[in-house]
Amino acid sequence: MYSEKVMDHFMNPRNQGEIPDADGVGEVGNPSCGDIMRIFIKVKDNIITDVKFQTFGCGAAIASSSMATELIKGKTLEEAWEMSNKAVVEALEGLPPVKVHCSVLAEDGIHQAINDYRIKQGLSPWEEKAGH
Ligand code: FES
Ligand code: FES
Repeated sequence: MYSEKVMDHFMNPRNQGEIPDADGVGEVGNPSCGDIMRIFIKVKDNIITDVKFQTFGCGAAIASSSMATELIKGKTLEEAWEMSNKAVVEALEGLPPVKVHCSVLAEDGIHQAINDYRIKQGLSPWEEKAGH
């Protein structure tokens, strides 16, 4: 049911943990299942220099967080903001349709972490596009 990529990121998640002195933190819950994800970012010169996640959720959510953190590490804040859950699902070589919503947690968590950083810098938060 899961691709090898998903199993790999589920069994060996990348960037799992927390960053105690994070520059931005996002915390989101998935209303459809009650699962929770936290994203921590370090930012220097507009680049995400480090990112970690904690996911209290299903295997698809863990694999999605792992892949999403890999995709945004070293990217600019703008590039990270543009990374959609679709890009995460593609990088994972697909998720079963009932599990695609789990990947939305990662996108939303990253957005919250970026906006937390922006607000702490005295900048206005970026706006979510409507829908996913
Ligand atoms: Fe809750 Fe996947 S079932 S995040
Ligand atoms: Fe949010 Fe699709 S999961 S609208």
